Amino acid sequence: MLTADNFPGGVPGSYRAGGARLPLGNFHGQAICSTREVLPLDTMANDAAQQAGCVTLALIGAGNRGADVYARYALQHPSEARVVAVADPDPGRRERLAQAHGIPAAHVFASWEELFARPRLADGVIIATPDRMHVEPALRALELGYDILLEKPIAPTRAETLLLSEAAARHDGHITVAHVLRYTPFFSTLKGLIDEGRIGRLMTIDHIENIGYWHFAHSYVRGNWRRADEASPMILAKACHDLDILRWLAGAPCLRVASFGHLSHFRAENRPQGAPDRCTDGCPVEATCPFNAVAFYVDGLAEHAGWPVSVITADLSREGRLAALRTGPYGRCVYACDNDVADHQVAVFEFANGVTATLTVTAFSEENTRTLKLMGTGGEIVAHLESGEIEVRPFGRPGALVASEGRTAAIGSRLPRETIRVPAGAGHAGGDEGLMRAFIDYARIRKAGGRPQAMLTSLAESIESHLMAFAAEESRTRGTVVDVANQAAAPRLDAAGGELG
Ligand SMILES: NC(=O)c1ccc[n+]([C@@H]2O[C@H](COP(=O)([O-])OP(=O)(O)OC[C@H]3O[C@@H](n4cnc5c(N)ncnc54)[C@H](O)[C@@H]3O)[C@@H](O)[C@H]2O)c1
Repeated sequence: MLTADNFPGGVPGSYRAGGARLPLGNFHGQAICSTREVLPLDTMANDAAQQAGCVTLALIGAGNRGADVYARYALQHPSEARVVAVADPDPGRRERLAQAHGIPAAHVFASWEELFARPRLADGVIIATPDRMHVEPALRALELGYDILLEKPIAPTRAETLLLSEAAARHDGHITVAHVLRYTPFFSTLKGLIDEGRIGRLMTIDHIENIGYWHFAHSYVRGNWRRADEASPMILAKACHDLDILRWLAGAPCLRVASFGHLSHFRAENRPQGAPDRCTDGCPVEATCPFNAVAFYVDGLAEHAGWPVSVITADLSREGRLAALRTGPYGRCVYACDNDVADHQVAVFEFANGVTATLTVTAFSEENTRTLKLMGTGGEIVAHLESGEIEVRPFGRPGALVASEGRTAAIGSRLPRETIRVPAGAGHAGGDEGLMRAFIDYARIRKAGGRPQAMLTSLAESIESHLMAFAAEESRTRGTVVDVANQAAAPRLDAAGGELG
C-alpha cells in the first residue's frame, strides 16, 4: 500500500506512523510547483499540435480504457485533442498507440515514472493504469502541473484516497475522476427531473447494478478485478460510479451505511462433477454451462472484435482466441479461479437531507445495465439505463379505483404518466464521450488562460463516493453500521503504513 513513508521522497503533509507529518510544501525534497508558470510546457515537444490550438495529452496506460476509449476520442476529434506522449510497459501496446497517433519515439516511454521524469509534455494527462497504480502517478502529475483525468477508483484504500485529496488541495490541482455516468444524457435527465421537482421532494432511491452473469465472470471471476488484494473490493471497483450517482441524485453527503454480501456462487464447492480446470479441456457440462468460455469468446462473439474479446488476446482469429483460452486467465473454469470478491452485495445509505437509498450490485442478472426507482413526495420515476427509458409517474389527485380480478388493487392518478426516451449512446451510454469532451473543453479554456466552469465531477465529491464504498465494505466485512462522515478523518497508520482499525 502507498503511504507517505514508502512514497519515493515522501508526500507533503501526508500521514506518517505516529501521527507526525512531513512539512507542507516538500515533495522530493523540492519546493512544490503547482502552476504552469513554474514548470512550463515543453512546447518544443509538440509544436504542431500546439499551433493547431488543440489540447495535447499524455497517456499513461495504453490498455483498454487508455487506448480504446480516451485516445480513440482524440483520433476521432483531431481538432480538439492530440495524444503526444505515451507510457506503457507493454511494448506492443505503446508502439501500436504511438503509431496510430504519430507519436515520435522520444515521447514513447516504458513507464509513467519515465514520462514524468521529463518536464510537462502536454496540457493534460490521462492516467489509465491498473487500479493500484493511480495515486502515485497522479501525485507526480499534480506536481508537474498537468490537468489530470484519473481513472477510477482513485485508490484501493481509504488512506491513499485521502492522500490524493490532501495533495490536490495544496496544489490547486485539477483532477477529474472518470465517473463517466454523470456525463450520460440518461443520468443528467434524471438529475434534471429531480431538480425540477417533478416528483416533489426526493425521499428514496432504489438502485440496482445488474452486472450481467457473463460480464461478472469475465471481469470479477477470471479477469483483472477478481481479487481485492490485486484490484479493490467489488463495491469500489464496480459500483463507485453508482455511489457517485447516488450521492449526486440525493444531493447531500452520505451519513451512514450498512451493507451485506458474499462470494456465494463462484467457489470450488459449486464446480460441476468432472469439470476440468479449463473450458477448452472437454467439460461434461459445456452444453449447458452459462460460463462456458469457448461458447462465449469464440463462438458467441465470433464476429466481435472489441471488449471483452479484445481483452483476452490481440489475435482475434478463431485459433488466436482458442490459444488465449488454453493458456490465459479467461479460459479457466469459473469454479476453479483464484477470485475472492463478493458476487452479490446490497448496501443501504442515509444522506444528510434525510434521503435513503439502497444499492444492489449483483452478478446474477441477465442484463448488463442499471435500473432505478426514485420515489418522491409527489411521484416516482422508474428508469432503465440500457433502454434509455424513464417513466415519470406523478401522484396527482387520486383518480378512480383500479380493480384487479374483482379486488381493489390500486388507486389511479388523474395525472398522466410521461415516458421519456433518452438516446442510448455507445461507451457507458454516451458517458465515455461526454466525459472526454468535458475534460478537453476544461483543459482548452485553462490553456487559453481562462477560468472554466467546474467539471460536473469534483474531486471532493469523488472522494465522498469512494468513502461510501470503503464504509460499505467495512460494514459488509465487520457486520456493523458505519459512519461515513468519520471516514474522512485522518486514518491512523501503523509503523508499516497499514491502517489501524
Ligand atoms: N471509468 C470507467 O468506467 C472504467 C471502466 C473500466 C475500467 N476502468 C478503470 O480503468 C483502469 C484501466 O483499466 P483497463 O481495463 O484499461 O486495464 P488494462 O489492463 O487494459 O490497461 C492498463 C494499462 O496500464 C499499463 N501499465 C501498467 N503499469 C504501468 C506503468 N508503470 N506505467 C504506464 N502504464 C502501465 C498496462 O500495461 C496496461 O496496458 C482501471 O483502474 C480500471 O478499473 C474504468
